[in-house]
Amino acid sequence: MVYDTLHYFIAFHQSSFLQNRKSRMDNLLLRDVVEDDLSHFFEQQLDADANWMAAFTAKNPADRAAFDAHWRKILADDRIIMRTILWEGEVAGYISVHSWFGEPEVGYWLGKPFWGKGVASAALAAFLGQVEIRPLHARVAKDNLASQRVLEKCGFTLSGEDKGFSNARGVEVEELILILHT
Ligand SMILES: CC(C)(COP(=O)(O)OP(=O)(O)OC[C@H]1O[C@@H](n2cnc3c(N)ncnc32)[C@H](O)[C@@H]1OP(=O)(O)O)[C@@H](O)C(=O)NCCC(=O)NCCS
Repeated sequence: MVYDTLHYFIAFHQSSFLQNRKSRMDNLLLRDVVEDDLSHFFEQQLDADANWMAAFTAKNPADRAAFDAHWRKILADDRIIMRTILWEGEVAGYISVHSWFGEPEVGYWLGKPFWGKGVASAALAAFLGQVEIRPLHARVAKDNLASQRVLEKCGFTLSGEDKGFSNARGVEVEELILILHT
């Protein structure tokens, strides 16, 4: 009887976990970046909390000309894989792989209204299903616990540490390097 109840409890929670995961995936779409997305990305780049979290950001996030020049370069470079994250049809942010620092590295940024709903985790899981490059690295400020958790949930493990100057904070910031092998 106790065993049956326990079994039912586990089965119920497993199925609700899978259903939650499926419904999160149903709300998500990754597609190529189109011109109209850029104004959303620029708005999202202006957020001070996001800049603090990400730490290694643009010198002046409010400089639209620098933003446009940066994105023109990204979109013209076929070595960079860049996808817009759509959540319930809205532009939630972007996810990418670039090799600016040598190794292929994943990066992502979401607008604040989309935080805390599992969007980054769902987007990274879907992206990793589409992008076969391995090993894949990620760099994350040591105190960006949300991003570390997203990476950890998708199978990344710690491979090293580094530090660099953070434009957003105006000081040197410690970062973790994570790796996904398979
Ligand atoms: C980091 C970021 C991508 C997270 O996106 P998100 O959609 O909110 O992430 P998710 O909801 O998928 O997952 C966040 C996880 O971190 C956890 N988390 C959030 N804040 C946390 C904190 N302060 N301490 C510990 N864990 C935390 C959440 O509980 C969740 O884990 P769980 O699913 O096990 O509960 C988003 O906040 C963002 O774009 N920030 C600005 C840019 C940035 O930092 N980019 C990454 C640079 S490396």
